[in-house]
Amino acid sequence: MVTARAPATSANLGSGFDTFGVALSHPADTVTVERAAETTIEVSGAGARYIPTDPDENVVGAVADALDAPAHIHIDKGVRPSSGLGSSAASAAAAAVALNDLYDRGYSAHDLVPVAAEGEAVVSGEAHADNVAPSLLGGFTVVRSDDGATSVDTDLPLVACLPEVVVSTRDARRVVPESLTMAEHVETVGNAATLAAGMCRSDPELVGRGMDDPVVTPARAELITGYAGVREAAFEAGATGVTVSGAGPSVLAVPKPGRRREVAAAMVEGFADAGVGARAYQTEVGRGASVL
Ligand code: HSE
Repeated sequence: MVTARAPATSANLGSGFDTFGVALSHPADTVTVERAAETTIEVSGAGARYIPTDPDENVVGAVADALDAPAHIHIDKGVRPSSGLGSSAASAAAAAVALNDLYDRGYSAHDLVPVAAEGEAVVSGEAHADNVAPSLLGGFTVVRSDDGATSVDTDLPLVACLPEVVVSTRDARRVVPESLTMAEHVETVGNAATLAAGMCRSDPELVGRGMDDPVVTPARAELITGYAGVREAAFEAGATGVTVSGAGPSVLAVPKPGRRREVAAAMVEGFADAGVGARAYQTEVGRGASVL
């Protein structure tokens, strides 16, 4: 029997749509695997009742198929589904690491990125790697269209605020504009490069400034009740940048040094002002998946 843990993640970071991601130090999913003739799945923990146990409909079933590693798989969810915090990616990454170890496949974490992304295709219809890459590799990650991923370790506190509203990834992708102007392209590239430089320097001011995104985030913010008020409250409490986490509904903020607790409280209050319950994770950029 092998158990692995894989962290929640926040994809996009505003200017890096479908490209950037970070691993969060918590929450995380834990997956335990045991050799079996056929794959079976059990799920417990946060939002377990919404997750299919049919291997053809669950991300970990696709991962077991891709690794030719049938197993009895128990997923303990620490990351709520449809949260914008890479819930399915955390399960896929933990399963990939656990099954790789159980069957002695010898793949590296980088090798497992496209494997875990196959699992993502089961839930979102497309094989995005911007959540599975940070969940497997840790740190700040940049994924490319050739399935390659680059990761950088960084020291950065974060707040991820999860409201009690549901936004499906499919709906959030439908509202993404199909084109952008040259001025928006130039602004986005400048912001994304600033953010990446900030990650390399563990500089919250640069990262926050680089999160601005004139194209995707404004369209998606409309799907999150209370977003504008939460964003403003986070800035007033000491955030350097605020954006939609992944496809939402979670909202991600980078706090100035020493302001994480205040930013978290202000975001929860911002949602409360809009009549929405929410919880805030006071977290930081963390490590990738590992066998326990
Ligand atoms: N980059 C993806 C999106 C992450 O924003 O739609 C969620 O799969």
